[in-house]
Amino acid sequence: MKKEWFSSSPEDTSNIALEVAVMIENKEISPWVFLKGDIGSGKTTFIRALLSFWGITEGVSSPTFSLIHHYPHPQKNIYHVDLYRLRSPEEVDTIGLYDLFHPENLVFVEWPEVIEDSLCFPHTRIQLFYTEEENSRRILLTSEA
Ligand SMILES: Nc1ncnc2c1ncn2[C@@H]1O[C@H](COP(=O)(O)OP(=O)(O)OP(=O)(O)O)[C@@H](O)[C@H]1O
Ligand SMILES: [Mg+2]
Repeated sequence: MKKEWFSSSPEDTSNIALEVAVMIENKEISPWVFLKGDIGSGKTTFIRALLSFWGITEGVSSPTFSLIHHYPHPQKNIYHVDLYRLRSPEEVDTIGLYDLFHPENLVFVEWPEVIEDSLCFPHTRIQLFYTEEENSRRILLTSEA
């Protein structure tokens, strides 16, 4: 599946993320979401809105130093991962990331570049692109599932 949106504000991006959350909840796309985009393009903004769909509204920021944030939820395990500081797939092996990919888990990953060549299972990819206009982003979803 491929889908494209144009966002003209952070609020727009959040609403698009809520659409994506519904697609995940309906099992139309994989709950393992990899978000690519330049610094400040809106990855955390997008993930904050995804998390709000499952009732998590506080304490969301890029886990740049902790690498993995686990958010408590009664039915699911929800993880927010930031691979920005990791330099090799071997390094990613050491943080236990691959143990998170259980069908009942929601996993949202920022900066997946370091492992994207080794992602040999179905997943959802979100790409955020700056455009010529300020506060505007092109958002692309691709999913094999
Ligand atoms: N259309 C838009 N969608 C999302 N964010 C926008 C938009 N327009 C402006 N912004 C601003 O861009 C910034 C996005 O920051 P955010 O932390 O979400 O990016 P990020 O991709 O996670 O950055 P980092 O790479 O540092 O983790 C926010 O300050 C937000 O207000
Ligand atoms: Mg971020």
